[in-house]
Amino acid sequence: MIFVYTIVKSRALQFFPSPKASWPHRRCPQAPFTIATVQPEESLPIILAENLTKVYAAGRVPVTAVRSVSMAVQPGEFVAIVGPSGSGKSTLFYLLGGLTQATEGRVVIDGVDFASLSDGERTRLRKHRIGFVFQKFNLLPTLSAMGNIEIAYEVSGRAKGKNGQPLDRKYLDHLCDLLSIQGRLEHRPSELSGGEQQRVAIARALITRPAIVLADEPTGNLDTKSSDAVLQMLLRSNRELGQTTLMITHNPEAASIAGRILHMRDGEIVREEKGSRA
Ligand SMILES: Nc1ncnc2c1ncn2[C@@H]1O[C@H](COP(=O)(O)OP(=O)(O)O)[C@@H](O)[C@H]1O
Ligand SMILES: [Mg+2]
Repeated sequence: MIFVYTIVKSRALQFFPSPKASWPHRRCPQAPFTIATVQPEESLPIILAENLTKVYAAGRVPVTAVRSVSMAVQPGEFVAIVGPSGSGKSTLFYLLGGLTQATEGRVVIDGVDFASLSDGERTRLRKHRIGFVFQKFNLLPTLSAMGNIEIAYEVSGRAKGKNGQPLDRKYLDHLCDLLSIQGRLEHRPSELSGGEQQRVAIARALITRPAIVLADEPTGNLDTKSSDAVLQMLLRSNRELGQTTLMITHNPEAASIAGRILHMRDGEIVREEKGSRA
């Protein structure tokens, strides 16, 4: 594992000597609007973390939530990170998604080091490449379910500019059918069950066809039936759109659907195993 990681790392550095030069929108203006395809196993990692450490220093006693984590995820992989509450999973999720800054180490997404980007560039990278699913859904309360999905597409910038593409209504219908939320789209989040809200949040994350889907406890607040629907949808879009999926969970059963499972304890990845998709 370490050997493979070292090769991947040295190749990544060789291939992208200057992370800024490989900023995807400069390299290819079309890139954010196309569907990523699954690449051969030996391709460069789409997510690379090197010696990531995060210390929360706000309180009286500093807390090291993530400790020297190094990991590589290949394009098209479905990886689960599983661990008990407090083991640092959410902090790792925020670090990998560029939502918080590492105390030490770095995150490279598709060859681009987050640290090399300005705040605006980092936001653009996130919007164009990553679909987020949060445990608490994070839907906008004043908008309907449909409004939440539409605004995510608008904010992603995909509809703007010369190469802009309007929201693909057929794809939206398809997603909503698969997620069984067709009849609920005019309702606000407060009028939806937890399972329905999470399914809307999944549609919101997938509508932009992101290359990477990051999900933090996407089934954490759901009953078994809704959990299954959410997991099946994540699996399906991983397979059909060639997305790279990283799902965080405390539930070993949910994690078992992944191709690879990384176990976290006390801020560290302590073990790796194959899941049922391997
Ligand atoms: N903003 C914060 N400030 C201080 N400590 C935090 C903060 N967020 C998380 N922690 C602490 O970091 C550790 C890891 O938390 P977290 O990443 O949320 O773990 P998990 O998602 O596995 O439950 C815990 O001890 C938690 O209390
Ligand atoms: Mg958490």
